[in-house]
Amino acid sequence: MYHCSECGYKSIKWLGKCPMCDGWETFAQENEVKADTITIKSPPRLLKGIEENDARRITTGMSQLDRILGGGLVEGSVILVGGAPGVGKSTLLLEVCSKLSTIDKTLYVSAEESPEQISLRSKRLTDNDYSKVFISGEDQLENIFEYIKENNFKFVVIDSIQVVNLASSEGAKGSISQIRACADYLTKIAKTFGVVVLIVGHVTKDGAIAGPKLLEHIVDCVLYFEGEMLSNYRILRSIKNRFGPTGDIAVFEMKSSGLVELKEMTDIFLPHRESSFSGSCVVCTIEGLRPILIELQALASRANFGVPRRRSLGFDFNRFSLLIAIIEKRLRMSFSSEDVFLNVAGGIRINDPATDLGAIMAIISSLKDMDIAASTVFIAEVGLAGELRRVNNINLRLKEVERADFKNCIIPESNLKEVDKALKVNYQGYSSLNEVVKAFFK
Ligand SMILES: Nc1ncnc2c1ncn2[C@@H]1O[C@H](COP(=O)(O)OP(=O)(O)OP(=O)(O)O)[C@@H](O)[C@H]1O
Ligand SMILES: [Mg+2]
Repeated sequence: MYHCSECGYKSIKWLGKCPMCDGWETFAQENEVKADTITIKSPPRLLKGIEENDARRITTGMSQLDRILGGGLVEGSVILVGGAPGVGKSTLLLEVCSKLSTIDKTLYVSAEESPEQISLRSKRLTDNDYSKVFISGEDQLENIFEYIKENNFKFVVIDSIQVVNLASSEGAKGSISQIRACADYLTKIAKTFGVVVLIVGHVTKDGAIAGPKLLEHIVDCVLYFEGEMLSNYRILRSIKNRFGPTGDIAVFEMKSSGLVELKEMTDIFLPHRESSFSGSCVVCTIEGLRPILIELQALASRANFGVPRRRSLGFDFNRFSLLIAIIEKRLRMSFSSEDVFLNVAGGIRINDPATDLGAIMAIISSLKDMDIAASTVFIAEVGLAGELRRVNNINLRLKEVERADFKNCIIPESNLKEVDKALKVNYQGYSSLNEVVKAFFK
């Protein structure tokens, strides 16, 4: 068979271009994987008789990480950490190793870097103690399995799945069949010996974990480590979790002494609290279960020639185009000769319809060159008719607005009934975009 090395698409004959992921020259011939070598019988048991503490939670000592894992690591689970090159996967897992080594024996397998290079990194990360972490540069999984059995390691980090290989399986390192065989093998080890295995996975150019969906299906939990390279903030997002909620995020700051967990996210994304200026507006988005207050910045400037430009950074482009069309149609403002840019401060990507109203207010504010009071937060989805639509979790959002000490909040009228009366924050309900715009730009 021929396999696409980017997405795993199978074909009987060689293809120049993958019909699934459109990658060029990604096909390589591979034999189908042989069965792996650990064979252990698992006779049927009654579900009732299984003790619950079989799956106890192990807290990693990093509270944000524990939270997105759903309360800590589960014994015998396999966790995949994916991320772009240099985002800090090895740094994060080395720190996790240091914490875990105080609980039980921990092995960090790095086939990518030499033990000396890891030692160098551990010297830089001065916040933790690495004296109890075992390091290995081995890339043969069979040998790693021997080490685990001999030394009773309870926690194993594999950095990364693309560079380890299984001698009993065919295919080159990093090929689809090798990755699948290695992941199966590691899962077997985890489930039968109760070892927690953390695997690093590289991502392909379009952001999927290489050796992709199949790897995500095999493991219990998938975490993506993302961050704009220019800022020091890194976001760890849970994409899949068999033992906890998904969609939640944890934010870290990359410092020379290591990754530091940030508990209050609002304060990072709101740099300009004191002064207001035109084109800036504060919204509340929900990432997973966490409300975050974020500043949106828009810039509308006269287009010099040709077709006016539209750019959005961190905000879905189609939604942004839609919002401009709504302003043009429902508020009768023209953008035909204006370049419009929209940016989410702090380098985070948001995708929550409740930020619609804020985006529109920022754009109009920049167009009219009139500022909106920086103490107001806008929460509402905007429909095509210019109506303000109900948003979810209104109380969670208002609570965050109150905590961050904002004075005023604009919400959809249809949400008014559910608002918790105990909240002290000042809020007003509106039913249409037109009313809000009239109230703020007299
Ligand atoms: N002295 C330093 N001060 C601040 N940040 C640093 C320092 N040294 C390294 N870094 C950060 O650590 C990152 C590299 O981390 P790490 O090697 O853990 O990434 P990775 O995701 O494992 O990369 P790869 O995919 O290449 O293995 C750098 O991109 C940089 O942001
Ligand atoms: Mg690395």
